Amino acid sequence: MTSSSTPLRLPPGPEEAFRIDVNPETLDCLLTLQRRYGNRVAIPTPNGRPVYFINDPDAVRQILVRSHARYGKGPGFVRVKMLLGNGIIVSDGDVWRRARTMIQPAFSRQSVHKLVAQMVRCTRRRAALWSDVVAANGTLNITREMNEFALELILRSIFGTDYETRIVHDGGNPFSFLSDNATRDLRVVIKVRSLRNFLLEVVTARRQSGNQDEFDLLSMYLGATDKNGQGFTDEELIDELITLIVAGYETSAGTLNWAWSLLASHPDAEMKLLKEARTLLPDEASITFEAVGKMTYTQQLIEETLRLYPPVWLFSRQALQDDALAEFDIPAGTEIFFSPYILHRTEEYWPDPERFDPSRFEPEEKHRTGERPYFPFSLGPRRCMGEYFSFLEMKIHLGYLLQRFHMERESAEFPGLDLGINLRSRNDIILRPSVQQFAA
Ligand code: HEM
Repeated sequence: MTSSSTPLRLPPGPEEAFRIDVNPETLDCLLTLQRRYGNRVAIPTPNGRPVYFINDPDAVRQILVRSHARYGKGPGFVRVKMLLGNGIIVSDGDVWRRARTMIQPAFSRQSVHKLVAQMVRCTRRRAALWSDVVAANGTLNITREMNEFALELILRSIFGTDYETRIVHDGGNPFSFLSDNATRDLRVVIKVRSLRNFLLEVVTARRQSGNQDEFDLLSMYLGATDKNGQGFTDEELIDELITLIVAGYETSAGTLNWAWSLLASHPDAEMKLLKEARTLLPDEASITFEAVGKMTYTQQLIEETLRLYPPVWLFSRQALQDDALAEFDIPAGTEIFFSPYILHRTEEYWPDPERFDPSRFEPEEKHRTGERPYFPFSLGPRRCMGEYFSFLEMKIHLGYLLQRFHMERESAEFPGLDLGINLRSRNDIILRPSVQQFAA
């Protein structure tokens, strides 16, 4: 498509080189570039090949959806790869396609519905812990609480009854360092590696004992076969399990962390969510996937939380072959960065973008505005597999707990952003729970 005699058509951009990575300087720099050059920018790099920053909804859609086969995962995934081996999030091509087809049934609605009981169980456990905090007139480190909640849920969803007998027995949970906010660097990678042997033991024991009575994701993964009838090897399975644990807990935990913080500072939103929860989930027996499916306000509130604080705030692709958008070329090898965080806060697409307003996601609004420039779960064939799981989990969690607890912020100060692989709050969010007394 691009011959050596035809000059490349590049988007506008700065002359000085800049290296894009998951850190605060990158966010500041991308925002400055957007202000100066618009929503399609070419950024020189020290190696001479410009990288693109694309913040235009149509171009994002073309790359992630319509022309997805021309792109593989981009450079930002190198660090993730150290953690996840060749699991589904980082793999490409046939390896990815095979894994996606094998894993898909575990994330069908029918399968996820079987995990509702685990979601209720983990939520109920938080309620018991928080009641003690209320009785002692204490505060909650909600950031930590959400990490622990989401980690427990994903581990129970994967390991079922093995969670009690093999994972946390002897009083310890070998995965708990993941929810410890202090360790976020290479030490985590080393620790995760050391878990491989432990996971292998759990998997071997399960293979020997056969399927267990309770539904869990491990059984689904163990029973999955490709088109040649082959299952995952032990090595592949361990990569996929680590991927699932990491992908499945930190994103939901981060979203719930922001959601609680927003609820604590928006009493109108709290009232609406409470009213809906009291109507649809009045007691534990009423918590079914059908009832949760009707929680439209809670859905909107979570969608708005994900607009403002998308956990995957920056991600990338790399062109495997030449491609072009209407007005510029994308030569093979080009690295392209997208930022849901920036797109979701771009005024031309989202009026008054800094304002928290769940009504933006009212069903009729969605209908009126058509497809929105909104992609916290990515788009296209590589879209998140856990989207339905995470909405069910978060709606049950908020609907159940908000009926029991009202939260007050300990500090009016914004906790700040920690722009790592996932977007988290820089400081932990501390809330003071009390018994929920709002009349519906
Ligand atoms: C609020 C919650 C979540 C958010 C915002 C989120 C976001 C994302 C994003 C942006 C991607 C794609 C990255 C890319 O295209 O490069 C992704 C992929 C994925 N997510 Fe999630 N995720 C969430 C929860 C979960 C949960 C709970 C699970 C599992 C239980 C999960 C499993 C996966 C998997 C397996 C992939 C890889 C899909 C593929 O490459 O084919 N996610 N997620």
